[in-house]
Amino acid sequence: MELQRQISRKLYEEHVHVIDLLGRFGRALDRLRTGPPAADDAAWRVLLEQLGTALEYEITRHFDLEETQLFPRLHARGEGDLAELLFEDHEVIREVTRPLLALVARAQAGILDDAGWRSLKASGLELVERLSAHAEKEQGALVPLVDEMLDEATDQEIWTQYCN
Ligand SMILES: [Fe+2]
Ligand SMILES: [Fe+2]
Repeated sequence: MELQRQISRKLYEEHVHVIDLLGRFGRALDRLRTGPPAADDAAWRVLLEQLGTALEYEITRHFDLEETQLFPRLHARGEGDLAELLFEDHEVIREVTRPLLALVARAQAGILDDAGWRSLKASGLELVERLSAHAEKEQGALVPLVDEMLDEATDQEIWTQYCN
């Protein structure tokens, strides 16, 4: 897909990045059959760090960009049904992500017990499914529309706000 606008390219790249991270998270969770990982497991330490940062960014900066700058423009173009559908996904994803982030923080601090790890696995797998599907949906439906509807000046204006 040849994208013309900075914002559509940025969205596209952020979706690719989060889909890759969720894929790695899902595979790591699937391997957790016999209980929590060892306290000195370096791969999990890195993964938890990346998840904490990326998920926090996703449900604040990335979702805010879509909700404040892009969904209103979809409504104005008669694409309100798509905007509503994507916004409803965001609400569900935020509800899953907030408690998951708290579990991730406790795991990073080394204070998550076995029951906590079971919760992390269950809500982690739910998030992997929901957020991957959402990001794929946006790659197919939202990104091309954003690319088409933003003129150069608007693209620049949103870009300056988003990337500063
Ligand atoms: Fe979204
Ligand atoms: Fe998105």
